[in-house]
Amino acid sequence: MNISIIQKNISNWEGSVLVVGVLEGGLENQLDLLKEICDANLLAKDLLEKEFTGKQGEVEIFQLISHSINKLILVGLGKAEKLELDDLRKATALSCRKNISNKGTLGILFPWDVFDKATAAKAVGEAARLSLFKDLRFRNDPKENKLPSQVDLIGLPESVNEKLSEINPICSGVELARELVGAPPNSLTPAELAEKAKQVANEFNLNVKILDRKECQALGMGSFLAVSQGSDLEPKFIHLTYKPKGEVKRRVAMVGKGLTFDSGGYNLKVGASQIEMMKYDMGGSAAIIGAARALGELKPIDTEVHFLVATCENMVNGSAVHPGDIVSASNGTTIEINNTDAEGRLTLADALIYACKLKPDAIVDLATLTGACVIALGEELAGLWSNSEKLAHELQEASEATGEGLWRMPLKASYKEGLKSMLADIKNTGPRAGGSITAALFLNEFIEEGIQWAHLDIAGTCWTDKDKGIDPAGATGFGVRTLVSWATKQSKAQR
Ligand code: BES
Ligand code: MG
Ligand code: ZN
Repeated sequence: MNISIIQKNISNWEGSVLVVGVLEGGLENQLDLLKEICDANLLAKDLLEKEFTGKQGEVEIFQLISHSINKLILVGLGKAEKLELDDLRKATALSCRKNISNKGTLGILFPWDVFDKATAAKAVGEAARLSLFKDLRFRNDPKENKLPSQVDLIGLPESVNEKLSEINPICSGVELARELVGAPPNSLTPAELAEKAKQVANEFNLNVKILDRKECQALGMGSFLAVSQGSDLEPKFIHLTYKPKGEVKRRVAMVGKGLTFDSGGYNLKVGASQIEMMKYDMGGSAAIIGAARALGELKPIDTEVHFLVATCENMVNGSAVHPGDIVSASNGTTIEINNTDAEGRLTLADALIYACKLKPDAIVDLATLTGACVIALGEELAGLWSNSEKLAHELQEASEATGEGLWRMPLKASYKEGLKSMLADIKNTGPRAGGSITAALFLNEFIEEGIQWAHLDIAGTCWTDKDKGIDPAGATGFGVRTLVSWATKQSKAQR
């Protein structure tokens, strides 16, 4: 999908479908403009009959017979004084979905002036592409794949083009993440995830290192390997590195939970725990690899980025962890595994220790870590925990810019009591209450003093059962856009 700006006046625009954003109560102001496009009287009468108010979520389609534009879509943007960037994203998604079967050129005309134009153009362009994404890999019917070949953002200046050029690299990263998450666990195995990461590295000139079980053993990753030992599939440790040309001013690490399937182990998932959905338990690693894909193409200067994933399955066989086993992580910490279903933090412990050894300025991990976070924040907010005000703010800013919701949660030190083990240094599971906080506190135990660290629990946000905002039903690719925005914040592209 090609996304470009059109400086021309609307009456000179040529395309098959035109989307016009209407502010609440603002239709009258736009009637003149609409009259330029189509038969004034007919349209005005039709609109008045329908009483198009411009309320958020309102959308109306008009078939135009005597014009080169064959469809006009009016979409409500809500009240002018309350208009936010995310309203433009949602309106874009809504109208794009109404236009699903049109392959021609789609034009979008919004009140760009309300925002920084480049920022608004980027948000709308991303929304257009991402809302129309469809995962057709596992179907035979190609009929569904009908997308506009061209999206024109109408009435924008030349100067927004630089920002616009970020849309496709970022969206390719999000779509890669969606495909990784959406792939079933018999297709996306730990080895396959490593293979995909390698492909990204090769395509975008990233350094790549994949460690197998023996190499992880040599590094003493007893916590990660304990999780993998009940599966017939080999675990893999993935390490990609993006190195900018020229001087490196900042070094960061992104760590993702990569459970290609989480059965719960012997503390098996039962009842409402949705075992059949646990292919998405690698959503954190998908976001990391998606971000690697995007950053590899965007090539920001100044910042070196390490992408780390300890990937395996959590399964049950004769060699699986017993609830109660004590294992030791690669920094020597001993862990009593009182619940084998709290496996993500065990894999992350060794990945975070590895990340700290790289001595980065900051580490951000993403993980579908706890059901408790879903209960606390629902499906539109990921939990954010951090030992650093600065890093927390940077990430909150990045999330505000992208519309991916984040909510800061506390690293309440006294709750660490709940992780005390009678025998080992720590146990992996605390009490049910405050479960997402004790999970974050557990991870914090593996972060070296002085390194800024943030943890994002994306258990609620990485999947949606129905179309929501710019996310079609299925995997959302949550985290990619925030990570990319954060990593590129201070740097201009070197392309
Ligand atoms: N992968 C799950 C968390 C999860 C739950 C993600 C629901 C998405 C939706 C994680 O490994 C897990 O099982 N966590 C347990 C922890 C508990 C045993 C302390 C949970 O949340 O129930
Ligand atoms: Mg689990
Ligand atoms: Zn899990």
